[in-house]
Amino acid sequence: MEKTFLMVKPDGVQRNLIGEIVSRFERKGFQLVGGKLMSISKELAEEHYGEHKERPFFGELVDFITSGPVFAMVWEGENVIATARQMMGSTNPKDAAPGTIRGDFGVTVGKNVIHGSDSPESAVREIGIFFNENELVEYKKLTNEWIY
Ligand code: TYD
Ligand code: MG
Repeated sequence: MEKTFLMVKPDGVQRNLIGEIVSRFERKGFQLVGGKLMSISKELAEEHYGEHKERPFFGELVDFITSGPVFAMVWEGENVIATARQMMGSTNPKDAAPGTIRGDFGVTVGKNVIHGSDSPESAVREIGIFFNENELVEYKKLTNEWIY
């Protein structure tokens, strides 16, 4: 089953949105297979956002993501990578549709509440840098038989 890396950013943690966000993915029908509240080091932030190294916002992005605890998660399900991106909404909350996480809870692009992997390659890479294999669990949920 496909897996993706999702993370409630420091603004989402500070604003008590962990439960709301976890709840949305649970109700959708996806399965949580890993999760932890953690601080991100500067080194981890720079590796995670390496693709944006040359962008003008890179420094602010690293400062922001290391400014407080984040809630890092791995979710599993059919098409979970693309569907989670749809549920998150556009990068800039001003363009994100109501009903999406960024559309409902975000205002500015710097503080947009949630991160999600944008492709199968990113998902594998990001899960690998945030989680050890022994932090992910495999389990069968009976409700999945009503979903698939
Ligand atoms: P990006 O990977 O383009 O967006 P997404 O999070 O939707 O995959 O950018 C990473 C983060 O960088 C984004 O969530 C917020 C921040 N960012 C800015 O602060 N300014 C910008 O102009 C862009 C494009 C992103
Ligand atoms: Mg991205």
